[in-house]
Amino acid sequence: MASSSSSPFKDDVLKGKVALITGGGSGIGFGISTHFGAHGAAVAIMGRRRQVLDDAVADLRSKGILAIGLEGDVRKQEDAARVVETTIKHFGKLDILVNGAAGNFLSSPEDLSPNGFRTVLDIDSVGTYTMCHEALKYLKKGGQGKDPSAAGLILNISATLHYTASWYQIHVSAAKAAVDSITRSLALEWGTDYDIRVNGIAPGPIEGTPGLRKLNPEEMKSKIQEYMPLYKTGERWDIAMAALYLASDAGKYVNGTTMVVDGGLWLSRPRH
Ligand code: HXC
Repeated sequence: MASSSSSPFKDDVLKGKVALITGGGSGIGFGISTHFGAHGAAVAIMGRRRQVLDDAVADLRSKGILAIGLEGDVRKQEDAARVVETTIKHFGKLDILVNGAAGNFLSSPEDLSPNGFRTVLDIDSVGTYTMCHEALKYLKKGGQGKDPSAAGLILNISATLHYTASWYQIHVSAAKAAVDSITRSLALEWGTDYDIRVNGIAPGPIEGTPGLRKLNPEEMKSKIQEYMPLYKTGERWDIAMAALYLASDAGKYVNGTTMVVDGGLWLSRPRH
């Protein structure tokens, strides 16, 4: 079995659970896949690139984790439905959906076409909604293969960009604001009707992720602490531990919240 010796959680906190993680082949999604697997879950990872999925699955399996990689684009409802169905066929049930798939690039509003804006909302916001919608019947109490008393749960990966405003991120800020709103609405409605907990995580800059490579070019690093004194990067581990807390029974009374895991960064103000 995979080692979780670097984790404060017992290695069986997700024993017997099945998780589907969109964007699970790289970055934060892969960190969550690895730690969920190391704590007993079987993981299905969804992504657009076959090679990325194959490499990720090989890595997970080498750690003793039950893993499959499913190609698909969260913008396509038929892909979402097929990936959910395949997860059920393969692992028999679905307990945890993690919406980690996201798209991003830096652009000023002046240079960003409406289609560019829409593309990011389609991936982040509509994609999150679509996956939740397709997964619902399996996440419900009594869903196929599940213990009749156990409801599933959803984790949406968000950001802090929209708490204030972020340069060159009008599209992602709008998209993640919608994700947070979806988190609250589903927490209310599916929490009431089906006992499904729906929460989010808003990460800061995380080492080794496509997000950090795209958004924080190396040359910006030395300047950044001048205006963001709390700036320090986190690790994929930090986000995975928050995800484990929210996905395990430790988080059983948490519903409808988006947990900020950024070292306090979004509170930063220049010293004066
Ligand atoms: C301006 C751009 C652009 C850029 C694309 N577009 N890149 N506009 N600057 N750099 C515009 C295009 O011109 C086009 O509009 C529209 O967006 C769609 O572009 P496509 O290339 O056709 O889209 P697609 O191939 O589907 O690619 C989606 C993508 C791409 C989002 C544009 O970057 C992608 O696939 N990324 C996935 C991986 C990723 O980004 N991961 C990082 C996640 S990090 P027109 O009008 O020309 O047709 C993350 C962190 C968020 O999410 C929080 C940070 C703190």
